Amino acid sequence: MQRQEKPLNLRIFAKNKRLGQKLAVVTAYDLTSAMIVSAGGADAILVGDSLGMVILGHENTLPVTMDDMVHHCRSVVRARPQIPVIADMPYGSFHVSIEESVRNALRLVKDAGVTAVKIEGGRQRLEVIEALISAEIPVMGHLGLTPQSVNRLGGYRVQGRGEKAAARMLDEARMLAKAGCFSMVLECVPSDLASRISGAIPIPTIGIGAGAGCDGQVLVFHDMLGLFDGIRPRFVKRYANLGEQARKAISCFVEEVRQGVFPGQEHVYGSQVSAQGQGLNQAGQPGSGRNDGDVSHEDGQGYLADVENGKD
Ligand code: KIV
Repeated sequence: MQRQEKPLNLRIFAKNKRLGQKLAVVTAYDLTSAMIVSAGGADAILVGDSLGMVILGHENTLPVTMDDMVHHCRSVVRARPQIPVIADMPYGSFHVSIEESVRNALRLVKDAGVTAVKIEGGRQRLEVIEALISAEIPVMGHLGLTPQSVNRLGGYRVQGRGEKAAARMLDEARMLAKAGCFSMVLECVPSDLASRISGAIPIPTIGIGAGAGCDGQVLVFHDMLGLFDGIRPRFVKRYANLGEQARKAISCFVEEVRQGVFPGQEHVYGSQVSAQGQGLNQAGQPGSGRNDGDVSHEDGQGYLADVENGKD
């Protein structure tokens, strides 16, 4: 049995709220992004249904299915990130009946291995949230701009503007906390309202477009790293421009292939085997690095090691 170095529990959420320490959450959708987010020191990974847009190419998050979520969550969990993994419940997965909602959430926990689920919506979702919590599934709430409501809201708009709307959101935040959510996302909410909500409830608020008064922040992996040029809302800060770097790297590769520059001697395997059982390069000389038959894979195991050892 493989052991995790650290338990993937959600205690950090309550602890940081108590200590006044900010939480940093980033989305991830597969093994590679999960490894990067975890190594970057984030407090939790959100497998958001934003994957419908940044990975699957849908116009909005509505078409995302349970199968999509399970598939991507499994990949994230295989990265064995040493932080909790929270999965979005996709549109339609918690709208039909309580029984079906619990079954769907259980799939994410049992089949995909996530720590918790996130559910968009306020007062109309209380019954589902309570049912999930009584099935031992931790729930993160999500108020403000809930992208699954895009058709009802008539677009992606800031929510909670005006006294009545603000009071309603504050009420709903209190309800979600009382229902047992361990945290909640506040998306596209005026910053003064988000601060008020954060001060009024005992669980941490994780803001996205909701200002610095939240107890933490979340950003979409592809947005913050400059990998996705689709929509670029004002609340996104780009910490890198990896899309541009990747495009340059690809054109460099294409050019080198066309010019015959890649692969070079250092990238090829020789056909002869030396006395030490090492491969020689194309010129029949003991080469350097991989041409020596060196195992360049860190732990010397797996596919790459077999290739390096000439077994493949
Ligand atoms: O789907 C998602 O990535 C989200 C975050 C933006 C909060 O819900």
